[in-house]
Amino acid sequence: MKKRIHIFDTTLRDGEQAPGFSMNLDEKVRLARQLELLGADVIEAGFPISSEGDFQAVREISRQVKNCTVAGLCRARKGDIDRAWEALQHAEKPRIHTFIATSDIHMEHKLKKNRSEVIEDAVWAVGYASSLCDEVEFSAEDATRSDINFLCEIVEAAIDAGAKVINIPDTVGYAVPWEFGEMIRTLRERVPNIDKAILSVHCHNDLGMGVANSLMAVRNGAQQIECTINGIGERAGNAALEEIVMAMQTRGPEFEEEITINTREIYPTSKMLCEITGMQVQVNKAVVGLNAFAHEAGIHQDGVLKNPLTYEIMTPQSVGITSNNIVLGKHSGRRALNARMEKLGYELSKEQMDEVYEAFISIADKKKVVVDEDLIGIAPNGVSHM
Ligand code: KIV
Ligand code: ZN
Repeated sequence: MKKRIHIFDTTLRDGEQAPGFSMNLDEKVRLARQLELLGADVIEAGFPISSEGDFQAVREISRQVKNCTVAGLCRARKGDIDRAWEALQHAEKPRIHTFIATSDIHMEHKLKKNRSEVIEDAVWAVGYASSLCDEVEFSAEDATRSDINFLCEIVEAAIDAGAKVINIPDTVGYAVPWEFGEMIRTLRERVPNIDKAILSVHCHNDLGMGVANSLMAVRNGAQQIECTINGIGERAGNAALEEIVMAMQTRGPEFEEEITINTREIYPTSKMLCEITGMQVQVNKAVVGLNAFAHEAGIHQDGVLKNPLTYEIMTPQSVGITSNNIVLGKHSGRRALNARMEKLGYELSKEQMDEVYEAFISIADKKKVVVDEDLIGIAPNGVSHM
């Protein structure tokens, strides 16, 4: 049997932290309900100490969401942990997620603490959080720029203190896949109690490698992936949930692991996020972009009309999109034009089709996309049109 990878969605926390992506209470609850339909294993609903609004959102999501674990973020401080627990306590499956930075640069310049003080804070925070909540996740912020020996030490101490999930964030999206995979393998090999916790990864996308790093981590023993819808998140964003899920689904035999996401809810979830935030994804965005299942070039259109698998590695329906999109433009061929004319109800002879094609190319050279109204305008008079 394949090992199960847990999908931890942090759209409502790390995603929302990106400039321009703030959501109000109702919007966060609506999206959380959709994430539940999508089948996320964990929803990180917010950072309760950060604002009254975030506190209320985490509390409301905890009350309403029944089928996912609900997590709330907090620093390794009593006030943060108490506030997170206050918001989470009514959840069916609550999780306190506490973190502290472990890289020298963060410890020296941001925390102004040395390594033993940071370990002490982490152990205390995990122990205290575990006295309130059965499930505690510990994150070593900026793990990928941390000393590996120190990272092993703090991970072991956090597990001894009661952490059920250990998260290794690539906070600044600095890692490259082979190095990140190696880091996960090293933690698995060198931390004696590592099997007592779920090993998680959280990758940012500053170098565009969030998804690749996450998959490499899975290959090296990670059991949970933290990600966001549409890849939203701080700076260049987080690893995109839809890309991770569809990579694992589409390339199934490549993975010894599986995920249990309801992939048909991917597109509706992506659209809902766009609608709530007013932020669209770029057209060429993998899986959910406008062009992800669109074909304009004649050779591709011909192939797809004969068999979609020629140029589509997954079906649009598998991610909740009704159908692919044959776009007519200057690169399009006769076959796609003919198919569209037939769809519009025109039965054309070969000669008529030649004429229409000429007219079509001349329009296509002037505009980016030729639409149905343009075709109706160039159809020969008297041709049957249903
Ligand atoms: O990127 C990061 O390090 C985080 C942690 C708080 C998990 O978002
Ligand atoms: Zn993050």
